[in-house]
Amino acid sequence: VTFDPYQQLSLHRWMLRDHVRNEAYRRAIAEVVKQGDIVLDMGAGTGILSLLAVTAGARRVYAVERTRIAEVARRMVKKNGAEDRVRIIEEDMETVVLPEKVDVIVSEWLGGFGVDENLLAPLLMTRDRWLKPSGKILPERVTAWLAPAWDGELDEYMRFWRSRPHGIDMSAVADNTAQELLLCRNHIRDEDLLADPRQMWTTDVYACPAEEADRPFQASLTFSASRDGKLSGLATWFQADFFGGHTLTNAPGTPETHWGRYVFPLDRTVKVDKGTTIEVDFACYPSVPGCCEMGWSVKVGNRPLEHHDTGKGYV
Ligand SMILES: C[S@@+](CC[C@H](N)C(=O)[O-])C[C@H]1O[C@@H](n2cnc3c(N)ncnc32)[C@H](O)[C@@H]1O
Repeated sequence: VTFDPYQQLSLHRWMLRDHVRNEAYRRAIAEVVKQGDIVLDMGAGTGILSLLAVTAGARRVYAVERTRIAEVARRMVKKNGAEDRVRIIEEDMETVVLPEKVDVIVSEWLGGFGVDENLLAPLLMTRDRWLKPSGKILPERVTAWLAPAWDGELDEYMRFWRSRPHGIDMSAVADNTAQELLLCRNHIRDEDLLADPRQMWTTDVYACPAEEADRPFQASLTFSASRDGKLSGLATWFQADFFGGHTLTNAPGTPETHWGRYVFPLDRTVKVDKGTTIEVDFACYPSVPGCCEMGWSVKVGNRPLEHHDTGKGYV
């Protein structure tokens, strides 16, 4: 039995306290869900989006959640007096059978840069099976962004592991940290970026063929440093667009969300001059359900190319 962090309330607490996230969904749901609509909440978690759909006027909501957190959703629905409208179904979206097709699919399937939780595949499968031809999906487009960045905390970690603390060579920890994605909650600001951000890819959830969600997402980007500075990694984030022009993003310089920024380290912090070319190949490849591996290659100016991969295990 594999452990699924989404069965724990701790992760859901982060999401439920995320005002920016919740408000973006609340506004979009209020705009799209019409009186009498049938709604499907894919990966309902604690049921917050289902309840927002009820507030917007949904006649019936199918809240499908595969982990036992569905039990909390059941109690949330009861406490909000919505048992007659929300049906909590504790099952995987892959196998669930609904009595009817739906007008709207709502889902918060977003990882730190969008597709990295490997939930696009179940979303597109859900669309193809359960959405009415004229139905709507929230959000409708998700775009992944990347920029070379200075991350002071990452720099400090790496220096520490390589400083022989207590007389022990801990550089193996630094070497492995350089193969991991790091979650930065409250830093990486606009001024930490060393070049203008570039789009990696964009996903239109109406047009995207289901098979594409299982293929690697790849981007080859060339940046030119916009100032002198120090480069310690690649910062990534997403922008989600909803019908009606509502957006949700964890981009630097926007109100903080629980996602923060996901940062992909370089082996070592590198000094760059204004105009230095930074070439990046980035790939996110779906592995098991709910999980992706990431690979990134970086060439800074004339320095040798470096490769990193979360799928390498401990090297
Ligand atoms: C990011 S959480 C969002 C939870 C909730 N909708 C919210 O907005 O707070 C994604 C949820 O989808 C669930 N999930 C992932 N894949 C699923 C699948 N194939 N079928 C049903 N639930 C799934 C996870 O267990 C998790 O609770």
